Amino acid sequence: MGLSAAAMPDTQLSMQAIHGLFAAHGASQYAGEPVTQLEHALQTAHLAEQSGADDELVAACLLHDLGHLLNLQVTGPNDTPTLRGVDDRHQRVVLPRLQGLFSARVLGAIEGHVDAKRYLCFAREGYFERLSDDSRRSLALQGGIFSACQAAAFIARPGAKDALRLRVWDDLAKQQGLATPTLAHFLDRAARCTSACPSGTG
Ligand SMILES: [Fe+2]
Repeated sequence: MGLSAAAMPDTQLSMQAIHGLFAAHGASQYAGEPVTQLEHALQTAHLAEQSGADDELVAACLLHDLGHLLNLQVTGPNDTPTLRGVDDRHQRVVLPRLQGLFSARVLGAIEGHVDAKRYLCFAREGYFERLSDDSRRSLALQGGIFSACQAAAFIARPGAKDALRLRVWDDLAKQQGLATPTLAHFLDRAARCTSACPSGTG
């Protein structure tokens, strides 16, 4: 299986294929930030783990930008879609590839992490001003800051709390040289909450 399976559209990824995606594309620069895609994923999962997050939320943190890696299979290394005015819809592209492997809770946190940014821009004083340039560019492409009605609808969603927690760690996971546990460590934690294992707690 491995990467050849990962390259096939709309097939469910295995844990081995996810490892293959990080091995093949993890060294690509995270758009406009001083970290690679792999470093960003590890730092997000690490911050979650340090905060006592359970396996499902750690898995969502590790995999929240996996859609970028799937897109890089097509566009090549160091692509920055936002500079071309493109929303790569990475939070949704990855969902059919993880469906059946991870729970609805994990998928919901991944899908919600973009809307969580739109929500926090509306709800949290100073949040927008702290976003990186690339994150501001993508915000505009993703629909911009939520209105009061959109924010109310978002926060009422079942997975909103997870998505917001993920988003805060996501925003902090752009630190050059930050030491983290290994990819194997976080893949092990993610594997514990795959469909082969009992579902984690909500
Ligand atoms: Fe991210």
